[in-house]
Amino acid sequence: MPSKILLIVGHPDPGPKRFCRALADSYAEGAESAGHKIRRIDIAALDFPLLRSQDEFQQGSVPTGLQDAAEALTWSEHVVFVFPLWLGTMPALLKGFLEQLMRPGVAFAYPEAGSGGWPKTILKGRSARLVVTMGMPGFVYRLWFLGHGIAGLRRNILGFVGIRPVRQTYYGLVEGVSDARRKAWLDEMRRLGAGAH
Ligand SMILES: Cc1cc2nc3c(=O)[nH]c(=O)nc-3n(C[C@H](O)[C@H](O)[C@H](O)COP(=O)(O)O)c2cc1C
Repeated sequence: MPSKILLIVGHPDPGPKRFCRALADSYAEGAESAGHKIRRIDIAALDFPLLRSQDEFQQGSVPTGLQDAAEALTWSEHVVFVFPLWLGTMPALLKGFLEQLMRPGVAFAYPEAGSGGWPKTILKGRSARLVVTMGMPGFVYRLWFLGHGIAGLRRNILGFVGIRPVRQTYYGLVEGVSDARRKAWLDEMRRLGAGAH
């Protein structure tokens, strides 16, 4: 069954040499070769303001520069994020993007006034994968830092709006990695794309 995949490249640096971009390209290649429909959003190419207030979050609307991203999120069945670990978590630009996007009307709905219920998830039924590159070994991030920065994205943001399961792929020591290891990772991305995983 072909899937509708939204691929979000969450690297603030638009430079073509970033490894995250190569990983995203391979994922897209694999997905397209298997007949999946894929839409790609590169946050480095977007122009949007930071969210500044709760009023803006609750009563405002998605900024013009993110309307295509909001529509693609609604369209998608599977969402893939590719980004580098910066200061233990996602880069601030990606967080800013999510603060604007994961808002009432797009990602969840507040309960009716006085009903006291929980917010209703709008994106339920979608799955996600986080592909995270980092300077340290992946096992150090998992075991010593307990993956806290990424758990926030998985649980507080994606889980909150009903996106699950959220699978994770960590690529550590990316700066000094051999060409053979790099190729193996790109092949793995192609396989994941082909399986829409
Ligand atoms: C501002 C900044 C903060 C970073 N913080 C971390 C960090 O907390 N832990 C880590 O392992 N690597 C850290 N790194 C290294 C990046 O994760 C690494 O350069 C990146 O994953 C490489 O992928 P890229 O080629 O796509 O940029 C940081 C890099 C920058 C520029």
